[in-house]
This record gives sequence, structure tokens and C-alpha cells, in this order.
Amino acid sequence: MRKLFLGALAMALVGCASAQPLAVDLSPSAERGLQLSQQSGCASCHGSDFGGGTGPTWQGIIGQSVAFKGGGSGVVDREYLIESIKYPDMKKRVGYSVVMPYNNLTDEQISDIVDYIEALSN
Ligand code: HEC
Repeated sequence: MRKLFLGALAMALVGCASAQPLAVDLSPSAERGLQLSQQSGCASCHGSDFGGGTGPTWQGIIGQSVAFKGGGSGVVDREYLIESIKYPDMKKRVGYSVVMPYNNLTDEQISDIVDYIEALSN
């Protein structure tokens, strides 16, 4: 439901042309996170509106439960997101054949990106 709603909202806001980041209110750190995500190539896999593609969607992801290859599962929270960005190959999700590449983001930059991802679940 929530994903459908966000999708419809995004379409309404940006018209029908190319997908754009969702127009949500962003704190200064989340705004930096959005820019970092666009500059660091994250959008190429997570979608130009971060609605997913080769990689999972970031929209409404907080609180979702995810299953890992080799067993186990988890609930997406801030800690999980930070860990996933820092160590992309540590927990691999069921359903994705591509492994996310490592990046050289600093802890502060990762925190900004996670602020942005959290804003997409508000
Ligand atoms: C080559 C494609 C690719 C790129 C580029 C990429 N990712 Fe990913 N990402 C994935 C895939 C695939 C997964 C899920 C698969 C897995 O966990 O093994 C994932 C998972 C994640 C997750 C965990 C979400 C979840 O549902 O488990 C986060 C957070 C994330 N990526 C952030 C980023 C950030 C930030 C960047 C940019 C610095 C980035 N990704 C760049 C493909 C990519």
C-alpha cells in the first residue's frame, strides 16, 4: 500500500517523464545524503528515485523484514542500513543476484545517506 501510494505521489509530483527523487521534506543532512547517493552511483542500482532496480528500493524500507541468503532474517533499521553500506557483502539478501560493490564513503557520509533513506520512510 505504502509503496503504491509513494509511487502515485511521485508520479503526481513529477509528471510522467523521467523518475526523479521523491519530493519529501529533507533535513540538511538528508539533503546531503541525497546528493551523495546521486554522486556515488547508488542511483544506478537503487533507481533514480531510489524506488529500486538492480538493488532493493529505499522507499519505505525502514521496518521491513528481509531474508538473508544462507538463512536468517532481519528488520531494517538505521544500524542495518549503516552496516549494509559499510560492508555490502556481509549480509546478502535473498532475491538479488548482484552483490553491491564496496564504496569509500566516510562514516559521516554514510550517516547522511541513512538520514536520506530514513526520510523516504516517513
Ligand atoms: C551494482 C549495483 C549497486 C550499487 C552501485 C549500489 N548498490 Fe546498494 N545494493 C545492491 C544490491 C543488489 C543490494 C541487495 C543485495 C544484498 O544485500 O546482497 C543492495 C543493498 C543495499 C542496502 C541494504 C538494503 C537492503 O534492503 O538490504 C543499502 C542500504 C544500500 N544497498 C545502499 C547503497 C548505497 C548507499 C550505494 C551507493 C554508495 C549503493 N547501495 C550502491 C546493489 C547496488
